[in-house]
Amino acid sequence: MTLAPPEVHLDAGSLARQMAHDVHDGLSSRPLTLPPKYFYDAHGSELFDQITRLPEYYPTRTERAILEAHVEEIAALTGARTLVELGSGTSEKTRLLLDTLRGAGTLQRFVPFDVDPAVLELASVAISAEMPEVAVTPVVGDFERHLGQLGLAGGDSPCLLAFLGSTIGNLDPAQRASFLAGVRSALTRDDAFLLGLDLVKDPERLVDAYDDAQGVTAAFNKNVLSVINRQLDADADLSCFEHVARWVPEHEWIEMRLRSTIEQRLHVRALDLEVFLERGEEIRTEISSKFRREGIAAELAAAGLDLEHWWTDPAGDFALLLARPV
Ligand code: SAH
Ligand code: AVI
Repeated sequence: MTLAPPEVHLDAGSLARQMAHDVHDGLSSRPLTLPPKYFYDAHGSELFDQITRLPEYYPTRTERAILEAHVEEIAALTGARTLVELGSGTSEKTRLLLDTLRGAGTLQRFVPFDVDPAVLELASVAISAEMPEVAVTPVVGDFERHLGQLGLAGGDSPCLLAFLGSTIGNLDPAQRASFLAGVRSALTRDDAFLLGLDLVKDPERLVDAYDDAQGVTAAFNKNVLSVINRQLDADADLSCFEHVARWVPEHEWIEMRLRSTIEQRLHVRALDLEVFLERGEEIRTEISSKFRREGIAAELAAAGLDLEHWWTDPAGDFALLLARPV
């Protein structure tokens, strides 16, 4: 089994410094915001994994079905020798790609890349045991900051860079433009970019997907407060916040928010920051943009990427696309 120790671009110290900076920024001006990347400590990743199996959360199973239907075509189109997966999490759906590329005899290396070292370790150990002939070289990093350090060499080409699950929707339009420019810079002309996208649909279904009956998404949302309590010595009482999921038609995105159920003072000791919250005041913790083909094609083109293939499920709920450097 060939499992390399993780390449760490974001160690616990630099993650803590970045978190301190982002939390200070997000909580010291109105509207109050927190970046979604801090949901994902080991517990947050486990809660996300539970979300992927909820009856209301259709994206994961729909994306898997699209992958199952088109994985042979993707393998043939890319002939990938290296598969890099950004925001890899458990890499569960990625097994389909890995197995097919192995079957085609092209795959040599798998690079899962995630901000959460715990989920990365679990996935890397499992995959390298299942696929001993594939070199698994995990990277702990932030895909908004460390794409330039991916260091793909000539020998890695052709490389398939996969970004599944519609995680790109958790970036706002400006963050997406800069992320896509980073993707373009990381790729050579022989490489390809595989992107999973949740599509615009009936808002009621969307809100249900982000406000499930069992309350798993609510627990996932509140987990960001546990992370801040632990990492930044804050005193948030999770029982004094409620989960909100709202469709915002002008942006075509779902927002998750945490609403204060009382008037309260939140003390973030490590930042020497006090935040006064009115009863009913909300902290925005995530946007989850929903896409249309024309919009994402234009965003890709602006970054120097050409949308070559577009696959959806029969109902048009979710899309997978393959793009290449122009
Ligand atoms: N790709 C998987 C997991 C999606 S959940 C799927 O399709 O089901 C989002 C994943 O992205 C989590 O594992 C989280 O830890 C990771 N993530 C979130 N923000 C990140 C960032 N800025 N840099 C790297 N990984 C990030
Ligand atoms: C990871 N990301 C694409 C998920 C989403 O659907 O935006 C995170 C999530 N938030 C609530 N449920 C799932």
